[in-house]
Amino acid sequence: MRKQIAAANWKMNLTITEGQQLLDQLLSHSYDLNENRQVVFAVPAPYLAMAQAAVSEKKHIHIAAQNCYNKKSGAYTGETSVVMLNSLGITHVVLGHSERREYFQESNQFLAEKVNIALEHQITPIFCCGEPLQIREAGTQNEFVAKQLEESLYHLSADELKKVVIAYEPIWAIGTGKTATSEQAQEMHAYIRQQLAAKYGDAVAQEITILYGGSVKASNAQELFSQPDVDGGLVGGASLIADEFKVIIDSLK
Ligand code: 13P
Repeated sequence: MRKQIAAANWKMNLTITEGQQLLDQLLSHSYDLNENRQVVFAVPAPYLAMAQAAVSEKKHIHIAAQNCYNKKSGAYTGETSVVMLNSLGITHVVLGHSERREYFQESNQFLAEKVNIALEHQITPIFCCGEPLQIREAGTQNEFVAKQLEESLYHLSADELKKVVIAYEPIWAIGTGKTATSEQAQEMHAYIRQQLAAKYGDAVAQEITILYGGSVKASNAQELFSQPDVDGGLVGGASLIADEFKVIIDSLK
């Protein structure tokens, strides 16, 4: 079976004390996790060390950075490098979130470089893609997402691609309370997998974890995750509420 993942994206929220309390609440509960059923917390950069220490004894629960730079080190004030993430024991990084694309003008080409440097440093990229509302309304979401994948991922070898987690997050469903229906999510996930299969072959495509993101909550997680090509979620708002995220973790296939 493909790896199923419940990933929390805290975005730019919580104080360190609140973050610690949230992790305490979530980690005091036991989950049915294994190599193919995992949890990831993408926390703000200043909390990476705290969060990593909190999960150090927990198997199958990982910490992700919400971003990294495309260079290893140097005069890049304010940026976080993969070498720093390695030194903290951080295993995952969210790349290409629509908020980074929109507010920080991150291009597909720039993201390809970030994917490369993460993989070179054994960090799993959680690569985000997804279309804005006007593209969905025009009905060209497939082409839009295909281009994001092509320009940021298709230079990778099959072995490299297998180390990437993809997160499909339709921008119109992020933070809006407007979730894609499970049919809409399944349709795009199947399309993404079909594209990967056309480029890398079906065996490779079947191994890639594709998460859905956009207003996932306790009340809709199970239905979304039960779709055959939806391998879990990348969750914003609901991941900040312990009782919500617990249910989301337990909703994994
Ligand atoms: P919401 O779950 O708040 O809609 O955010 C989704 C998201 O952007 C996760 O990365």
